[in-house]
Amino acid sequence: MQFPTNLFTLLVLSLSVGRIAAQAIPTGPSVLLTNADGWATSAVRAQGGALFGGNFNLVLSAPAQIQSKAGSKSATPKPLTKPCEFNSCPAGSPAEGSDPTDGRLNFVNSYPVDAVKYGIQTVSPLYLNSTPDFVVSGVDSGNAVGAAACESGTLGAAAEAAKEGIPSAAFSGASLHPEYFNTSDPTSANSIAASLYSNLSVALVSALFNSSARPVLPANTTLNVNFAPTSVGVAGKAKSKCATMGDFKWVFTRVVPAAKHAKDVETCGSTHLPDEETVVHSGCFATVSVVNAHTKDDVDAATQSTVLERLKPAGLFSCFKN
Ligand SMILES: *[C@@H]1O[C@H](CO)[C@@H](O)[C@H](O)[C@H]1NC(C)=O
Ligand SMILES: *[C@@H]1O[C@H](CO)[C@@H](O)[C@H](O)[C@H]1NC(C)=O
Ligand SMILES: *[C@@H]1O[C@H](CO)[C@@H](O)[C@H](O)[C@H]1NC(C)=O
Ligand SMILES: *[C@@H]1O[C@H](CO)[C@@H](O)[C@H](O)[C@H]1NC(C)=O
Repeated sequence: MQFPTNLFTLLVLSLSVGRIAAQAIPTGPSVLLTNADGWATSAVRAQGGALFGGNFNLVLSAPAQIQSKAGSKSATPKPLTKPCEFNSCPAGSPAEGSDPTDGRLNFVNSYPVDAVKYGIQTVSPLYLNSTPDFVVSGVDSGNAVGAAACESGTLGAAAEAAKEGIPSAAFSGASLHPEYFNTSDPTSANSIAASLYSNLSVALVSALFNSSARPVLPANTTLNVNFAPTSVGVAGKAKSKCATMGDFKWVFTRVVPAAKHAKDVETCGSTHLPDEETVVHSGCFATVSVVNAHTKDDVDAATQSTVLERLKPAGLFSCFKN
């Protein structure tokens, strides 16, 4: 069986041996991919493969090391005094560098925010001929829900993109741990979770681009997306009801529980959206919250509505009954 974990690696290999002609470059929207767990995890490479399979052209710019709790911290990138995560680049590497076989795969020795800045300003113009149409941040290991989402480097990176005028979404998955893509076993539970979450992420981004409404997302807002634990066991065996894309139910949520008198967009017969933490802990769910990129708070009902209208035609969402 072929998993996207390998797809992106294969793409890289095919480029390095000059077989680019046989591998068509996607013609769809362009994506800058980043990941607070670093540039060399199996999850970020699986995400690259899934986006590529979904006809998105892409570049990767992510931190040289795991920076999952970095929030919106920023600093000038510095040359490496130790190797990149998993020894994926040597000590002494420059502050920004790329895979020797493919310049589209980049590390930045700083925070997720700085990797996004470099990706938008430097890598995208080189390989996409412009700034990207969208920034995908994640899928990162562990959920980023509720008040704690503020500290998430994944959300910090997505928020930075929105502040720079690029629509974006942050994706976090409960059943992942950071693992080196080059040595991961494609049949492991971690690899299958990465593939599953990647496919779910691509479905959401595709739904946004399938909508004819533009801009893709309202200015200065981003999406905080969380995936519940999968039920894939050792050796990739499905244990129960959360092992395939179809098992996941998408729910439109808010970051923090609604105040009594506050009104969210009306959906599912209510003007109170469920909060993402409650939903993601209740079963096989994927939550989508609309976030103010500057404050990381929930947005108002009108802004929620703008996003919901874009996603509704894809028929993704279910109603959550607590
Ligand atoms: C978005 O935020 C930027 C600052 O980061 C600001 O200059 C711009 O006016 C904002 N756009 C809108 C539509 O609010
Ligand atoms: C992947 O691992 C193999 C064997 O350990 C090694 O030869 C190769 O250089 C590695 N490739 C990358 C991109 O790290
Ligand atoms: C993700 O999608 C790819 C391409 O359709 C498919 O080959 C793969 O099996 C999917 N992964 C999972 C875990 O369902
Ligand atoms: C987006 O549109 C394409 C082409 O019409 C379709 O195959 C795909 O299923 C759509 N995706 C979503 C998530 O609606």
